[in-house]
Amino acid sequence: MEISKENTQTQELPFSKSLNDKIRPLLERRKPISLGSVGFQSPLLLAPMSMICKSPFRRLMEDLGAGGTVSELISCHGINYKNEKTLDMLKIHPKEKSVGIQLFGEDAQKMALAAQVACDQEVMPKFIDINMGCPVRKVVSKGGGSALLKDPTKLADFFKAIKNAIPVPLTIKIRTGWDQDNRNADEVLHIAKEEGIEFVAVHGRTRTQQYKGHADWEYLETLANNNILPLIGNGDLNTAQQVQTRLQQTNCQALMLGRGPLRNPFLFLESELQTTEDLPYFTARDYLEVILVLADYIRESQQEIAPRHLLVQMRKHIIWMAAGFKGAGLFRDLLFKTPEIDETLKLTQDFFFSQADSGQSIDFSESFMTSGHG
Ligand SMILES: Cc1cc2nc3c(=O)[nH]c(=O)nc-3n(C[C@H](O)[C@H](O)[C@H](O)COP(=O)(O)O)c2cc1C
Repeated sequence: MEISKENTQTQELPFSKSLNDKIRPLLERRKPISLGSVGFQSPLLLAPMSMICKSPFRRLMEDLGAGGTVSELISCHGINYKNEKTLDMLKIHPKEKSVGIQLFGEDAQKMALAAQVACDQEVMPKFIDINMGCPVRKVVSKGGGSALLKDPTKLADFFKAIKNAIPVPLTIKIRTGWDQDNRNADEVLHIAKEEGIEFVAVHGRTRTQQYKGHADWEYLETLANNNILPLIGNGDLNTAQQVQTRLQQTNCQALMLGRGPLRNPFLFLESELQTTEDLPYFTARDYLEVILVLADYIRESQQEIAPRHLLVQMRKHIIWMAAGFKGAGLFRDLLFKTPEIDETLKLTQDFFFSQADSGQSIDFSESFMTSGHG
């Protein structure tokens, strides 16, 4: 596939010249793809994550090489009740290029109405995605999230109602099935294809598995081989080596990365390196810059943001990105005792400056974020 220079060369980057100079050649190596009618800058996409994939973080991840992003899951009921906080979640920054809005709910008509509202924003999403993977009891007990996989006979009407209501493509994100004995992703894909769903992302675990064990890539590859719909494989791709190896072997058209980029925000870019001998490619100073840009993006996204609010949003990202640097544990304890955003950012600067030229080295045998909404 030909590499398009157009988007990457003109892409404005918010970092210092030296970091921009490191990033730009890697951005230019990306190979744009299309999944159905939806174009992305590369086959490596940011997975939807609740309370995380808000506009500022999505924007940052696009700056750092994500080929496209998906919002956190958003309740169709919250939208229909015109809940202010929920409506706020629908906003897309004009600089975001390829973003889908993910909705959850169990009722076709209510989902259709909410999807219309999501498309009626100042910046329209590139696609609407249905959450069919959330394992959380509160969502599943009402029939939403992964519970939608339980009765595929209802899916055709469900998809039809939503698709007919919106002017952009409809996509789905599922798990492999409800449990090991009921892995029905292939059946769901056939129905989705009949109803004109554009592409599907599959997290390679069942609902019962939650986040335990490993994503079943053998199953995902078999599913991709069946060639029913453009398929995005997802689960446990945490390092540039893992991403590169999977990209070389996979039958999936694209891959989605979730938890990996939370700790290593450069994961998309490092996956473009020709040799992983260059790793770690980005230094502690580069991480600090990324953190400061994220703070700017969050400030920009909310007028007159309360310092406490900024602190709550930033602290988790700082702690995740500090993982694998020397003294991360003590730094984390210190941040939890620091109630001010300015002091937090000052301590963060001291922490990353103190790393000299060292890079990040994460112990992937330790579990990380073992609950989520998909
Ligand atoms: C904190 C957290 C929140 C998540 N929220 C969502 C969500 O809102 N919608 C969704 O479809 N999946 C959600 N997921 C699932 C991820 O999109 C992804 O499928 C899963 O984490 C496996 O990919 P990974 O191993 O690359 O993280 C969430 C996962 C985590 C860890």
